[in-house]
Amino acid sequence: ADVTASPSKRVLLAKPRGYCAGVDRAVQTVEKALELYGPPVYVRKEIVHNKHVVNTLRERGAIFVDENEQVPEGSIVVFSAHGVAPEVHEQAKARSLKAIDATCPLVTKVHVEARRFAAEDYDILLIGHEGHEEVVGTSGEAPEHIQLVDGPDGVDKVKVRDPSKVVWLSQTTLSVDETMQTVHKLKERLPLLQSPPSDDICYATQNRQQVVKEIAPDCDVMIVVGSKNSSNSVRMVEVALAAGARAGHLVDFAHEIDPAWVADARTVGLSSGASVPENLVMDVLAWLAERGFTDVEEVTTAQERLVFSLPQELKRDMKAAE
Ligand code: F3S
Repeated sequence: ADVTASPSKRVLLAKPRGYCAGVDRAVQTVEKALELYGPPVYVRKEIVHNKHVVNTLRERGAIFVDENEQVPEGSIVVFSAHGVAPEVHEQAKARSLKAIDATCPLVTKVHVEARRFAAEDYDILLIGHEGHEEVVGTSGEAPEHIQLVDGPDGVDKVKVRDPSKVVWLSQTTLSVDETMQTVHKLKERLPLLQSPPSDDICYATQNRQQVVKEIAPDCDVMIVVGSKNSSNSVRMVEVALAAGARAGHLVDFAHEIDPAWVADARTVGLSSGASVPENLVMDVLAWLAERGFTDVEEVTTAQERLVFSLPQELKRDMKAAE
């Protein structure tokens, strides 16, 4: 190789990145509902935690609300990908709302685990971030049995009735490594603590963190496209920094990038959270290209093929309308 050639500035583009199967399904659910029933379609909470997605759907006639009470009686309401507590379904029924549940099936899986362990009278330690919608929804399945453990620092507060009958479950979008630290600390106090029957941190979260970890040591700066309230996107920046990226930033849009971040960089890492449409990543690539980062290398550590079918209640109406 010619070592005298001026080193070109490169981008390591992570794959998998962007949309997961649960987000794709949730966004499509709102789009199809708008087509089928016509606007307005009410959506309880942000359908997925992404500014651009929410704004786009709003322009097309979706109305985002915080609670069912804000939805006029008899209207259509879509529940977000993060899942809801059973009482939210009951409220919807009481208001005669037509509810379409876009909860990701991998979140539902955790709800089912919570119900099952609660029925067996276990104490359930739910590892997750206080106040996150998914945690609120999962906790609502069995409030008397579930206590939240918000990272390793939350371990000391845990109180259980019977140390031989305790299981941990988790939010789907956590840092894999930090969760393992929390579990390790929990096990020091509760050696008989049981693990979930299968991984609660979902495949998409794990895959996006894995590839970021792989490229991070080579990156002067890692840019993750995603919204500040997107748990999995925020974790990706943390994972990149822990794995050796010299700097890391989360941006919703290319125009939020500060040119100073890349001024001295030779290699920029780029990825996006599970709720982020690919066009936003392409915008960042174009922004970088304008600044000399024209050598783009895609680094792939997993292939994703999972697709979820649309909610039954929506499919039924789509069929009837054919
Ligand atoms: Fe579901 Fe994981 Fe996406 S839980 S919504 S597949 S980030």
